[in-house]
Amino acid sequence: MCTDGEVKWGLEGVVVTVSSISYLDGERGKLCYRGFDVEDLALNSSFEEVAYLLWFGSLPTKEELNWLSSELSKERELPLEVVKIMELFPRDSHPMDVLRSVVSILSLYLKDNSLSFKNAISLTSKMATIAAYWYRMKNGLPIIPPDKRLSHADNFLYMMFGEVPKFSHLFDKMLILHAEQEINASTFSAMVTSSTLSDMYSAVVSAIGTLKGPLHGGANERVLEMLEEIGSLENVEGYFNAMVSRRERIMGFGHRVYKTYDPRAKLMRKWLCELNEGQRVKYLDIALKLEELVLSRFKDKKIYPNVDFFSGILYNHFGIPKEFFTVLFAIARVVGWTAHIIEYQQNNRLFRPLAIYSGPTGLSYREVKEQIDKEVAL
Ligand code: CMC
Repeated sequence: MCTDGEVKWGLEGVVVTVSSISYLDGERGKLCYRGFDVEDLALNSSFEEVAYLLWFGSLPTKEELNWLSSELSKERELPLEVVKIMELFPRDSHPMDVLRSVVSILSLYLKDNSLSFKNAISLTSKMATIAAYWYRMKNGLPIIPPDKRLSHADNFLYMMFGEVPKFSHLFDKMLILHAEQEINASTFSAMVTSSTLSDMYSAVVSAIGTLKGPLHGGANERVLEMLEEIGSLENVEGYFNAMVSRRERIMGFGHRVYKTYDPRAKLMRKWLCELNEGQRVKYLDIALKLEELVLSRFKDKKIYPNVDFFSGILYNHFGIPKEFFTVLFAIARVVGWTAHIIEYQQNNRLFRPLAIYSGPTGLSYREVKEQIDKEVAL
């Protein structure tokens, strides 16, 4: 029995597991995957290397990297029946709804749904294909089958655009930055589902549904909507003041753990400013002005830009529609989700928290008829 004072709303500050996958220091703005600074990894490694690191605990040797790259590329194809089912989806379906639904449908066709590395690799591979195929179908374009010779990032962009664009190396870094982030809401969701000894697909479906919300991964799409609505540099201050007076949240700012600049946002901001020197990056001027206002207005609350503030500006610059932003988050984060699902199984215990009951007590049952008769008599 606990009392109201003990409720940790939103599980703030509650430790639910011991994990060696990532380390997050919210006060110093540090994020490490398996002991490596995320900045170091983003600048120097590849998505495949990081996936290996997150799943298996150390950076791969050349042979291990070749093995994982080849496993990932072998798993890219979707069963033909699944592609046919996707063709039937309403074309205005949101990519996150499509991703959630197709991962669920996939489990009907791929009979092994265990909480295994094999399925982690297969899902990571196939989720990129689902996203790219839906981009093509939604736009009335023929699908482009995966190319086994290409890296994960190159192949994804090739399946979307029919060629590997110049920005692919930056996209690879974005995948690295989004791959893992300790016990965030979607990872926790996946762990709750798998803690019941349910299957890998169900756990990842739970995670996708959780990531979609605007307080989590869905924020990146909302950020771009907000920047579009602001429209010009002159409008930023008025727009910001109006939001503050309505006590609305500024999308892409604030974090449950980071109480300083999110290291991932810091890197993206740097890349955007560098790109902006060559060619104007749309919305960057508006975003930087908004950032200045938020930092000064909310200094005491320690509200800084998070990973979702700058990512959409970069994706927009790449020509990716905003509806797809959260899906790009998901196709990277599936590595972190599955790494945590598998790690937690080593010491699995069902998640089952408590609630403090606040409803009525001592009522006794009355038949429906008796209640109606009483109401009629009144
Ligand atoms: N704009 C304005 N005020 C904010 C914001 C914001 N974005 N975020 C937090 N606050 C204020 C909030 O109003 C509260 O003020 P007060 O104490 O006066 O009531 C205070 O800061 C603490 O807020 P909280 O809701 O208790 O903080 P939280 O840890 O529950 O929320 C958050 C974290 C991410 C949900 C929140 O910051 C938020 O809603 N941000 C906007 C959505 C967003 O960008 N989400 C992406 C999160 S990071 C990446 C990811 O997970 O995808």
